[in-house]
Amino acid sequence: MSEGSFSRVGVVGLGTMGAGIAEVLARGGLAVVGVEINQDALDRGRGHLEKSTGRAVKRGRLTEDGRREILDRIELTTDFGDLSDCDLVVEAVPERLDLKHKVFAELDKVVRDDAILATNTSSLSVTAIAAATGRPAKVVGVHFFNPAPVMKLVEVIGTVLTEDGAVDRVAALGEGLGKTPVVIGDRAGFVANRLLFGYLNDAASMLETRHATRDDIDTAMTAGGGLPMGPFTLMDLIGLDTCLEVLEAIHAETRDRRHAPAPVLRELVTAGLLGRKTGRGFHSYETAADAEEA
Ligand code: 3HC
Repeated sequence: MSEGSFSRVGVVGLGTMGAGIAEVLARGGLAVVGVEINQDALDRGRGHLEKSTGRAVKRGRLTEDGRREILDRIELTTDFGDLSDCDLVVEAVPERLDLKHKVFAELDKVVRDDAILATNTSSLSVTAIAAATGRPAKVVGVHFFNPAPVMKLVEVIGTVLTEDGAVDRVAALGEGLGKTPVVIGDRAGFVANRLLFGYLNDAASMLETRHATRDDIDTAMTAGGGLPMGPFTLMDLIGLDTCLEVLEAIHAETRDRRHAPAPVLRELVTAGLLGRKTGRGFHSYETAADAEEA
């Protein structure tokens, strides 16, 4: 089975986002090749996939056979060469431009010339990533939201270098996967983060100026704002390092003071308190079960 014009899709980097994206693609019936840099990282990626699909089985949303089929569609490897036959590759490695350049240089070498290369970056310029490849016309952004298996939105980003049709093909794929794509130019924060992060940063500033407590701010936005999570719970879910990177990128482009990262956010990141993934951020997650449930 294939989704639109793609049938075999690679995912590079199987952290929380990459594994979630691989799951979404495999659930859509596509053959997926998941790549990590070494066996440990690959095992962690497999762990993410097993946990997320296991959770769906527990919730009665997926049968054990269905889960097996999804996992069987995902080939896990540490060899970039296994991406050679993919018609789309989605990169989801950590947000460092030097690392993205390295990954795209490798993809340029091994992946078919007509394949589209997509980045899931949330804070770097898609244009800067594209310009460093030998095929900038084939590079787009495809920005999923956390948790990828649940959140409907996919932002598809074209640059001034992107060829006609590439953005539409990727947006059509998103739709085929049951997502809601929106198409955007290459501007820091795209649309959703540009609007969301001013609010999240304001919440951190309110905490700092003792406007209200963490829990009261969270409660105000769940009970009063109708949001599924308050801002501190959401920042902990996203990861405070990612929050800082997104704010810095938007601030660098706009110089808008609302996006100048609140000192408390920088302080927590410096201390290594990055949210759920490290067990503590604005909130504490004492046990693995807490991190899962919170
Ligand atoms: N992986 C897979 N499935 C998950 C999941 C995960 N990590 N977390 C929750 N789910 C599924 C559950 O299995 C459940 O599915 P079901 O209805 O089929 O049984 C469903 O999602 C609802 O989950 P829960 O009942 O456990 O919990 P909640 O109702 O509290 O929902 C939530 C959890 C979906 C995370 C919800 O709280 C939410 O939508 N929060 C806001 C998330 C958000 O705003 N994300 C965007 C962040 S910005 C971003 O990612 C951009 C980046 O660039 C920074």
